[in-house]
Amino acid sequence: MKLIIDTDPGIDDAMAIAYAAAAPEIDLIGLTTVFGNTHVHQSSRNARYLVDKLGLAVPVAQGAPFAHGEDDHSPSEHVHGPEGFGDLTEIPEIGQNHDLSAAAFLVEMARQHPGELVVCAVGPLTNIADAMALDPEFASNLKRLAIMGGAVYCPGNITEHAEANIYHDALAADAVFSAPPETVLVGLDVTLKTLYKSADFEDLALRSPDMGAFLRDISRFYLKFYKEIGGLEGCGLHDSTAVIACTHDHMFDSVQTGLKVATEGKAIGATVPDETRPPVWVCRDVDGAGVVDLFTARVASLP
Ligand code: BDR
Ligand code: CA
Repeated sequence: MKLIIDTDPGIDDAMAIAYAAAAPEIDLIGLTTVFGNTHVHQSSRNARYLVDKLGLAVPVAQGAPFAHGEDDHSPSEHVHGPEGFGDLTEIPEIGQNHDLSAAAFLVEMARQHPGELVVCAVGPLTNIADAMALDPEFASNLKRLAIMGGAVYCPGNITEHAEANIYHDALAADAVFSAPPETVLVGLDVTLKTLYKSADFEDLALRSPDMGAFLRDISRFYLKFYKEIGGLEGCGLHDSTAVIACTHDHMFDSVQTGLKVATEGKAIGATVPDETRPPVWVCRDVDGAGVVDLFTARVASLP
């Protein structure tokens, strides 16, 4: 399955990219970057670093620096660290970004692979909305859009109403849900059922002494955040769960509903069922232990 991950690496983003590199049924054809956990130039640098570390030969196309209607962004440093990789702050610039912008790259790849390309968006939806605006055929050229975002039937994480990716560009998210491609939403409803614990990282590092140890090391900061703020003994495999949803439908229970996003007021970023909108698949339950095991098995096969 041809896949592009639209991403803001980011600790759980790094895990998702490693998973995609290791999964035999995934043909990763590129990464597109967006602001979110970091500024977009940091997202791109981190994405290129991961591509190199994983020995991949895939382009990284840089996308939006800000949300629609904004000209600034405050990264989630308290969650992902000052450079996006926890306590790791010296991250080399390796290679260069693709000549095309993220939105143009997404449009071009969808045109080249009509009906075949899956895009997994694990950051704010700005690039996806931009690609839809750039090419009216973009949505219909995709096989599927999988989104890590939203909290439809559960509380949010950045506010009590909103999940971080949707909150960071509520206008873009609402635009995507107003005329969505074939879409599956993998939100906090399921990703908080895939907790990855310190012992899981230690096991991964033993079995994959390079990539696994890297993920363990950058995750210490993330695990501390989950414990101090959420009282949780583990971090959600948010972005990896969305990648897994692209290939392992059977591990998820989903319902179909239209969605709108609150774009102002105290509920800004809330993902709300709206039956007047075109339906998307919303994941409501997951085999969380199965996702954790699959993630470990696949990533442990990396050096
Ligand atoms: C999402 O927000 C980001 O912090 C994570 O990378 C993930 O994509 C979880 O709400
Ligand atoms: Ca992310």
